[in-house]
Amino acid sequence: MSSRSSRPLTFDRRRFLELCGAAATASLLPLASGCGGDELAPPLDPGTFTVPPLLDGEIDGAVRVFRLDLQEGEVEWVPGAPTATYGVNGAYLGPTLRFRRGERVRLEVTNSLGETTTLHWHGLQLPARADGGPYQTIAPGTTWTSEYDVVQRAMTAWYHPHQMHLTARHVYMGMAGMILVDDPADQVGLPSSYGVDDLPLVIQDRRLLADGTHPYSAGKTPSMHDHMAGLRGETMLVNGVIEPRRVVPRGRVRLRILNGSNARNYHLGFSDDRAFLHIASDGGLLAAPLATNRVLLAPGERAEILVDFGGDAVGAGVQLQSYSGEVFASLFTGMMGANLSDSLDRATFDIMTFEAGPEATATAPPPAAFEPIVRMSEADAVRTRPIALTMSGGTVSINGEQMTELGSVPAAINFQIRSGETELWQVTNSSGMAHPLHVHNRHFQILDIDGAAPPPALAGWKDTVLVRPGRVVRLLLRFEGPTDLQFPYMFHCHILEHEDMGMMGQFYLVD
Ligand code: C2O
Ligand code: CU
Ligand code: CU
Repeated sequence: MSSRSSRPLTFDRRRFLELCGAAATASLLPLASGCGGDELAPPLDPGTFTVPPLLDGEIDGAVRVFRLDLQEGEVEWVPGAPTATYGVNGAYLGPTLRFRRGERVRLEVTNSLGETTTLHWHGLQLPARADGGPYQTIAPGTTWTSEYDVVQRAMTAWYHPHQMHLTARHVYMGMAGMILVDDPADQVGLPSSYGVDDLPLVIQDRRLLADGTHPYSAGKTPSMHDHMAGLRGETMLVNGVIEPRRVVPRGRVRLRILNGSNARNYHLGFSDDRAFLHIASDGGLLAAPLATNRVLLAPGERAEILVDFGGDAVGAGVQLQSYSGEVFASLFTGMMGANLSDSLDRATFDIMTFEAGPEATATAPPPAAFEPIVRMSEADAVRTRPIALTMSGGTVSINGEQMTELGSVPAAINFQIRSGETELWQVTNSSGMAHPLHVHNRHFQILDIDGAAPPPALAGWKDTVLVRPGRVVRLLLRFEGPTDLQFPYMFHCHILEHEDMGMMGQFYLVD
């Protein structure tokens, strides 16, 4: 049975050409070479799910050491037209790193590419100089070492480059991978056999052209429109494979899902609308498993869900889909929103297929509740910081400013924050599209959204929060950890084109 979706492909093509036309009239940045001649790839055949290799590292004294090599490769997504890629220890994406809470890790990152990049540990709490942000560049042919203690609770994090102005390109080329932080005390009763009943899903959309290139291929640059909207594509990849199919045991399977896309949001659910348990968000387990049939993931966000395939007939397939159309109106508003969205943002489309296999597992249901999450309170905050997200006239800004160079950042987005203090960040979005705001080094709590307590899915620990147009989201962040006057941490929109255009600020932790 084909898993090709109900995707309105011909409409996409027309829309693509329209956008190229719009970009041509408003070109402040070079036009995509994809416009005016290059064609989108035809619908591509689904592949077989691959599980990224699990790296456990090697013990060196009291440190667990991981060696990562950033390298060039190629992948043949379009038959006969291989795409040039970047990967970590391989052609595309990278291994899953398994950390253990309480251990010290050392990451030795060798850059075998022909250009400078960085590698950032998204979701990890660490010293600023180990963060892998834009200040920790790795020149070609050199090795950068990052070493830190794994201090936080069990969670699913990830790594990706953070090179100033080039993050979107480097991630799109294929550099990213997952990090699992294990804490045996925190995982009672959950499937945890990696690659069997505990599966990583890195979801990415790609705009693949018929010749195997994409808008970030060598010599190309996405259009101004794609920078403002964030580059979205028509081909769905999971772990680097087109709309893959995976045979799973008939029983409870844990999916650790990362939205590793540059700009697209996914409103995930299954084609038969089955209920599942949402068990963890960015910063680890929720207070209790949440029965639901949807989870919304913005770029950079993670969710862990528990899906029961126990009642599925052997060989039956169910699609993981994005019900994007259901949330379209709240993610894109007005003329601006209409202009910055694409047809998939208004549609339901397939991402991958799960097929129940002959083997059954008998994993017990998870506990009714996990560890309680102690809610922070407004009274804990020593100050309120406004964070205004805006777009206008070809720019994306935070507090009216952009971070366009290292070392010289406007005061409105360059903070000194005392280690040990709690702050309230009042985030507003006056643009026509939703922006996922990410803060390095800190997991925060959402105090309220337009004055209302967050829904259960957003009431756990977060490091990235989708701020919808017109909303006011108040965050509570308790800053702690080693101070550093030399290196800051970043906060930014995780639409990577926006980050590259300067929708980013920085903060120093000080005494
Ligand atoms: Cu996912 Cu600043 O990073
Ligand atoms: Cu980060
Ligand atoms: Cu943004």
